[in-house]
Amino acid sequence: MQYEELKALLAAHGQTHVLKWWGELDAAERENLSAQIDSIDWDTVSLTHVAENGERGRIEPIEGLSLEMIELQRAEFFSVGREAIRKGKVAAVLLAGGQGTRLGLDGPKGACDIGITRHLYIFEQLIRNLQDVTQGCGAVVPLLIMTSVLNDEATRDFLEEHDYFGYPSEEVFFFRQEMAPAVDERGQLLMSAKDSLALSPNGNGGWYISLERAGLVKEMSARGVEWFNVFAVDNVLQRIADPEFLGATILSGKATGAKFVRKAYPEERVGVLCLEDGIPNVIEYYELSEKMANLRDGEGRLIYSFGVTLNYLFRLDVLKRIAREHLPVHAANKKIPYLNDEGILVVPEHENGYKFETLILDMVRQAGSCLPYEVVREREFAPIKNKTGKDSVESARVLLKLNGVEL
Ligand code: UTP
Repeated sequence: MQYEELKALLAAHGQTHVLKWWGELDAAERENLSAQIDSIDWDTVSLTHVAENGERGRIEPIEGLSLEMIELQRAEFFSVGREAIRKGKVAAVLLAGGQGTRLGLDGPKGACDIGITRHLYIFEQLIRNLQDVTQGCGAVVPLLIMTSVLNDEATRDFLEEHDYFGYPSEEVFFFRQEMAPAVDERGQLLMSAKDSLALSPNGNGGWYISLERAGLVKEMSARGVEWFNVFAVDNVLQRIADPEFLGATILSGKATGAKFVRKAYPEERVGVLCLEDGIPNVIEYYELSEKMANLRDGEGRLIYSFGVTLNYLFRLDVLKRIAREHLPVHAANKKIPYLNDEGILVVPEHENGYKFETLILDMVRQAGSCLPYEVVREREFAPIKNKTGKDSVESARVLLKLNGVEL
């Protein structure tokens, strides 16, 4: 776009300040900034989403498969799931496009070494977990890895250098998610350089659209894939392409499945599966009122206790339908490095603006049906989010050792 066109577009949205340094930029830098401005989705980059955060319908508990119920049908679930895996109906989607800001790493979170006496990388442990299943079922599961422009090259290089930790390289596919601009508390676009907006990955809700854009939905469909098991990079204990979970979800006739652990205590920071206006949904911990978080049944068990582990199954036909619908945009109040009026990069100590993200948990609602599937916390839930304390490398190591993983 030419300068006049850019200026008119930005003026329509009250954002002409991003052209402040235009006169200092060379041709390539102008091209860069112009392309970023051109690709802004103005409906997404709006403070109206701040007001929408937390608006909720009527919340009720949801029924799901408890550990006891699963035990009774385990053999049947396993055989149905294994059959589907053997027929190539399942692909695994690793969400690795996040920035892992809480962990404070430079590179991809999956490249973090959590070993003590030997190297053990997060990616390595996840691939081991997947291999447990593929070896047990005698079949390969394609592994689709979502990255962002910030960590794509580093992720590809890291895995290639490590020979994909023994996974067949022709079964590993990468795709990149989109970026979204951030704004300050007044809704003004922030810049990270004179030729660049402050961009960050647009949330994990964009995984399917990005997969489609990369041509991988077509490719997977052609191979006969019908289910996607989507999982987070940071839970090192999770079972991936779990045949029992898959079998249970297929037999339930539901379009999605969600692994959950019973919440350890009312304030635990996990999203909770429930019904909202009669439809399965995940409510983020900060959106569940204190009263609801503390409600207990006659036996003293928390009523809203199905904590999601970010390990979901999605049926492809339903993904194709919901891909055409809009996901709600969540505005997250964050510390965002920005260029001040003097053109100097400032790294703020406090939250100074908003990033806009779509979230995978909203896809559960859009799918319209979900099988909540309980897993044993100590065996399947060891997320690494923070540097120390809860959900950290330390806490994950304890759980890995408990499960016999040598560190
Ligand atoms: P988190 O919500 O924990 O975010 O992501 P994060 O970016 O990893 O970490 P913080 O909040 O900055 O500390 C849950 C999962 O979703 C992926 C992450 O990589 C992780 O597997 N994710 C998150 C993406 O793939 N893309 C995103 O834009 C955001």
